[in-house]
Amino acid sequence: MSSEYSFIDRNWQFIKGDQARPLVEKFSDRPYLQGDRGIVRVPRDRWHVAQDAEANAWMNLWQGNVQDRNLDHFIMFDKYKPLADRRYEHAIELGCGPFSNLSFVGMACQVARCSLLDPLIQSYVSHPNCTYRGSHLVNNVVGEAPQIPIVERIASPIEDMPTDRRYDLVVMINVIEHCFDVDLIFDRIATILAPGGMFCFHDKYFSTEEIEHDLTYTYDAGHPLKVEMNALEAFLTRDYVPRFRRTISTEPGYDSLYFIGERR
Ligand SMILES: C[S@@+](CC[C@H](N)C(=O)[O-])C[C@H]1O[C@@H](n2cnc3c(N)ncnc32)[C@H](O)[C@@H]1O
Repeated sequence: MSSEYSFIDRNWQFIKGDQARPLVEKFSDRPYLQGDRGIVRVPRDRWHVAQDAEANAWMNLWQGNVQDRNLDHFIMFDKYKPLADRRYEHAIELGCGPFSNLSFVGMACQVARCSLLDPLIQSYVSHPNCTYRGSHLVNNVVGEAPQIPIVERIASPIEDMPTDRRYDLVVMINVIEHCFDVDLIFDRIATILAPGGMFCFHDKYFSTEEIEHDLTYTYDAGHPLKVEMNALEAFLTRDYVPRFRRTISTEPGYDSLYFIGERR
């Protein structure tokens, strides 16, 4: 873990070293730290700053991108084989971004139809390489991936999503750090996922020391939440029987978790 200060604002202005220190201290997310659970909730205005950064990234800076490491996730999830040999009637991807991971999932199993949720989904349909502009979800990377009929595009954070629908597969990859209330999120997912349904989840796997280090040396406008690994495990153990798990070091100093569980 580097002890150099680093500050990234909502416009992706990146400042390092001594110049960054007063900014890190001024904008720090430390007031939101909840003991050893990490940062599991931030006020909505802090979340809006993060969403400005996200919109700016995809709709201005990264217009040429065709994926968001979706192929890497496919490989790290063992090509989604733990979901194979089954037909899913209605899947949803939460925080789908402009590209989504569901069409990669559809290479391992049958997905009859899907819904896609992202607070920025109405903007993302204007991204030049968005995969869900038409009636079917497509794949920019793997030509032969199946095209999945789209039922609904939901422009909402998970925390505010409708809970009257039921799904048999929920995918949430690389989203938690961007959100504003982890307790609400895991409650929502447990509600919408039918018993026996599958939850496919990937995100950072922070230790208390890493969170403490980040809060001291960094401010990253786009990533307000930092859920400590035991807090994350508590949600997963409460609601799911594990069917696949892998932890790996993806970046210096960080582990990440790949998890597939069956709703209890
Ligand atoms: C790093 S992108 C990942 C996109 C996609 N999951 C992927 O792997 O390609 C994170 C996404 O989470 C979305 N997001 C932020 N806050 C959210 C929330 N509270 N509920 C659902 N999605 C959220 C952002 O708009 C953004 O599109």
